[in-house]
Amino acid sequence: MGRSSNDSRCSQNWNVFFALKPKNQLPLAMSTIRDLFRTEKADNLHELFVDQLKDIYWAENELLTALPKMADAATTDEVKQLIRDHLDETEGHVTRLEKVFASIGLEPKERKCEAMAGLIDEATDIVSDSETDSITRDAGVIAACQKVEHYEIATYGTLRSWAALMAHQEAVRLLSATLEEEESADRKLTALAESFVNAAALTE
Ligand SMILES: [Fe+2]
Ligand SMILES: [Fe+2]
Repeated sequence: MGRSSNDSRCSQNWNVFFALKPKNQLPLAMSTIRDLFRTEKADNLHELFVDQLKDIYWAENELLTALPKMADAATTDEVKQLIRDHLDETEGHVTRLEKVFASIGLEPKERKCEAMAGLIDEATDIVSDSETDSITRDAGVIAACQKVEHYEIATYGTLRSWAALMAHQEAVRLLSATLEEEESADRKLTALAESFVNAAALTE
């Protein structure tokens, strides 16, 4: 009752999707899925894509303020340097997101990311709850930074997949470049934690 014509069209598209995928056979070819997503049904995914772009754009801009504070609070030169290096990359992430917006004909806009706001609050608590100049603080700072990286990895991985389905090739290229840097930062944080920080915190 009260179903809109758009709903009906969506339903028809999904009927086509399932009709083309007999039981126990391989999933549809990616090209077929892309064709389906080029229909009016793609409007909803496009809207979600833009919402999530605004969300991560806010988050990356917020990190430009949060990361220097984390670097200043860290105890060891190694942790400070790693965070500062990633701060430089984060400036690039903001610029890339602006190019992603432009590639789909939009002005960059922010929408508060409650998840990132919470992760930054948690990082602040970790610093205030640990002793200045302690290695335990660095173990905590690394943990907080890795939570941020994992949130970013999840976001960029999802956005890249959606961009590929909607054939936004320039966006795919830009989002992939940032995703690689987030994954690399996460690996470097793990390596630093396991090289000496965690062990030193254990005996502090
Ligand atoms: Fe980032
Ligand atoms: Fe990051």
